[in-house]
Amino acid sequence: MSDKVTLEFNGNKYDFPIVEGTEKEQAIDIKTLRSATGLTTIDPGYKNTGSCESAITFLDGEKGILRYRGYSIEELAEKADFLEVAYLLIFGELPNTDQLAKFHADIKKESHVDEEMKKILDGFPKSAHPMGVLSSLTSALIAFNPSSVNVTSENDMYHAIVRILAKFPVLVAWTLRKKKGLPLDYGDDSLGYVENIHKMMFKRPSEDYKSNKIVIDALDKLLILHADHEQNCSTSTVRIVGSSHAGLFASLSAGISALWGPLHGGANQAVLEMLEAIEADGGDTKKYMAKAKDKNDPFRLMGFGHRVYKNFDPRAKIIKVAADEVLNDLGIDDPILDIAKGLEKEALEDPYFVDRKLYPNVDFYSGIIYRALGIPTEMFTVMFALGRLPGWIAQWREMRLNNEPIGRPRQVYVGENHRSFVEVNKR
Ligand code: ACO
Repeated sequence: MSDKVTLEFNGNKYDFPIVEGTEKEQAIDIKTLRSATGLTTIDPGYKNTGSCESAITFLDGEKGILRYRGYSIEELAEKADFLEVAYLLIFGELPNTDQLAKFHADIKKESHVDEEMKKILDGFPKSAHPMGVLSSLTSALIAFNPSSVNVTSENDMYHAIVRILAKFPVLVAWTLRKKKGLPLDYGDDSLGYVENIHKMMFKRPSEDYKSNKIVIDALDKLLILHADHEQNCSTSTVRIVGSSHAGLFASLSAGISALWGPLHGGANQAVLEMLEAIEADGGDTKKYMAKAKDKNDPFRLMGFGHRVYKNFDPRAKIIKVAADEVLNDLGIDDPILDIAKGLEKEALEDPYFVDRKLYPNVDFYSGIIYRALGIPTEMFTVMFALGRLPGWIAQWREMRLNNEPIGRPRQVYVGENHRSFVEVNKR
């Protein structure tokens, strides 16, 4: 196998080295292309541009493989909890018992959010989109934790990381509680990391908190499944903002804004909105199956198909089981969830969907679980952000430790050539 490619341009030949990853992915190293040839490359959306070498997540969309630090998503979802997975993603290895206990204890020590932050939250109207609120609050945290900005040593980074892992769930819970008109609460350090998040989100002022193992396990799995997905839009945003040496919290705030977009994190919200629209139209799933198959109708079945996973979404397989368990356990009677089950069954048996390998993706089932838990549709992307937090942190830390240069893509200019200024009265 050749270790270089040769480019012929204007009668000259130039060699560029091939970089090979541990999974045998090959890439052309074009760092010297411009200085050697004067050429740049163009690749809108960077769809075939490797922006970095990363040792965090491997995915193969054709084969339905997703691995964090070499461990398969199936094994992690079955055997690990979210905090272990966060440690694995960020620091590269699964923690032993002592490491995990210290990590959790360090997080608990940081679990308060300055009371002044409540005033900032208060300033938002109740109608504000939770993703905008979360992004703003994450950015506002910088003012209360200024040492999170100039992080240069591994020790500084560690402190910034445990701080945000502690405070971010409080912000998420506050965002939800504000939407629901519930008092802003703090957690309980005697609970596990995810159980505590569940408590902070749902505890009602007049009742003792009741934990539910099936629900906590499903939440744990959902967060694990969303924890990283290599160089997607929000992760690339976090890395590129961080590459200017902006601090961790500022980079995360930008990542949250990127995730907010309907083309990225908004898919599970779109699933629920579709189900609600079907219900409002009489709940006829067959009618909407026909619309989805009609080439003259722009309607698509939300939550089916995936840009990357072309055979199946490995995360969807795992979360389908959890969704069934949660629905059975909670015994909820909800016409929206009945429509979801109906569509799923019909699509899995319909040759149009089977032939095109259009299976329900992770967003389809995550939307169902969130709905069953009583999380408002607008909060779904916030739950995605909560899960993605360790991945963003891991990618930011890797970028800083590798001392990556500031992100600065080029362009091909297609505007006007030089022209002379025309006075306003002559235009
Ligand atoms: N409903 C009906 N038909 C569909 C759907 C769907 N959800 N998805 C794809 N198809 C059809 C297409 O019309 C096309 O049919 P054709 O071959 O007869 O022309 C065929 O399946 C292949 O579809 P593509 O558009 O080529 O698939 P692509 O990879 O471009 O799109 C996408 C993937 C955007 C996810 C698409 O499946 C979709 O729109 N799904 C619904 C929205 C959704 O759930 N998005 C979130 C997914 S998560 C993510 O992508 C980050």
